[in-house]
Amino acid sequence: MNERNRLGILLSGRGSNFLAIADAIASGRLPDAEIAVVISNKADAPGLAAARERGLNSLAIEARGRKRAEHDAEIIACLQEYRVDLVCLAGYMRLLSAEFVAAFSQRILNIHPSLLPAFPGLDAQQQALEYGVKVTGCTVHFVDEQLDHGAIILQKIVPVLDGDNGDDLAARILEQEHIAYAEAIKRVLSGNYRIVGRRYLPSAQANLG
Ligand code: GRF
Repeated sequence: MNERNRLGILLSGRGSNFLAIADAIASGRLPDAEIAVVISNKADAPGLAAARERGLNSLAIEARGRKRAEHDAEIIACLQEYRVDLVCLAGYMRLLSAEFVAAFSQRILNIHPSLLPAFPGLDAQQQALEYGVKVTGCTVHFVDEQLDHGAIILQKIVPVLDGDNGDDLAARILEQEHIAYAEAIKRVLSGNYRIVGRRYLPSAQANLG
């Protein structure tokens, strides 16, 4: 059997996207991956507790009171120590330094709860609701130095219903996030794609499968 690709998960909070990825691996939907380490910048993140309960390598690297470069350097060293192939940001509430992005060039993914480039940044679901769009969704993309900006791997569309409040909409989007993230990881791990400008394009080989 081929060696599995080693994922490094970075999170700051609840961790439901991390759990969806872990479940996709456990159920065989993501057969080529394993979680090498889960890192949180918050020691009390529920996602970190969930990782510990699952017996995964998990650690807190607190950011408080430290320069971004110094904090990022520690995380990079940790990811390298665990021989991580692909970094998955799953509700990681910090911008990555240019050094971090360069250390894992085209090997960092993020999920965002809107159809980028609409509504980047915080509270994307509430932004969409207040703007009055009729459809929104989620985006899995490569990470570059700019916030919610790198090449888009896939997007899922979610309707905004007239009676929605922010929580209703966020829950409907989250369901799709949990499907989208594992799907995007699978595509990236297949290696059957190229990036042309900002465009992620599956190679012909990928279309056959
Ligand atoms: C998700 O909505 C994700 O799109 C955004 O942060 C939230 C994290 O949720 N980047 P969870 O911690 O994965 O439950």
